[in-house]
Amino acid sequence: MAEMENLAGSAGGKGVAGYGATAKTLHWIVVGLLIVQFIIAWVMPDIRRDTKPDTLINLHLSFGALILFVAIVRLAWRLTQGQVAPLASMTPFERTASHVLHGLLYLLLLVVPILGWINASWRGFPAVMFGLELPKLVATHAPGLRWTGDVHGLLANYVMLALVGLHVAAALYHYFIRRDGVMQRMLPGR
Ligand code: HEM
Ligand code: HEM
Repeated sequence: MAEMENLAGSAGGKGVAGYGATAKTLHWIVVGLLIVQFIIAWVMPDIRRDTKPDTLINLHLSFGALILFVAIVRLAWRLTQGQVAPLASMTPFERTASHVLHGLLYLLLLVVPILGWINASWRGFPAVMFGLELPKLVATHAPGLRWTGDVHGLLANYVMLALVGLHVAAALYHYFIRRDGVMQRMLPGR
């Protein structure tokens, strides 16, 4: 406990001092899965009214469901293991900005796959995660839910990618310009 307090002393604020191996592993698993998921999304055929889910579309549903699963585990880990305190060198603006951005990223990691899953159900696609059949979230062609596919694609392609871009730019800024160790907190071995 005393050691914990000591560590927390190097950070500026409430929370544990650094990311543990589990939090880091989950962060980088999500990054890897998202890269695969966007590549599949961009090469899979455009989905129209009469499209049948082929291999690539099924892979998109499977990886998407896996991302949702890992995101829930990750969020549960964070909520039970405590938030990581910002480094003492972070300005108030940086603290607020990173807090809001991390919150939005977590939110998108839930909302984007759930909307995709609703749309897959709406289209009558069986949502299968690597062979495991998942429940349908809504009835096929349930009224009023056609928009879910468009909003799912727009949120992923524009909002999620833009926010991830900001997040990566901030990480690189801390690494190359501020050189304050923020990036190292998410890298293995510290
Ligand atoms: C974080 C996870 C996910 C990401 C980043 C993602 C990303 C995308 C993107 C970028 C598109 C548009 C493709 C294009 O540019 O033409 C798309 C379409 C689609 N995705 Fe996902 N997706 C995810 C999860 C899921 C899940 C879990 C499902 C279903 C179980 C799903 C089902 C669909 C469907 C049905 C479409 C076609 C929508 C339409 O055009 O009406 N996605 N996805
Ligand atoms: C190459 C890409 C990426 C790099 C270099 C990177 C780097 C980092 C770093 C250094 C932190 C720790 C920030 C701190 O100590 O305050 C962090 C946290 C975080 N990252 Fe990333 N990241 C990347 C991609 C992503 C992606 C794609 C997502 C999700 C869409 C994501 C979501 C998060 C979240 C939610 C946190 C906050 C973790 C927490 O405090 O619970 N990151 N990232």
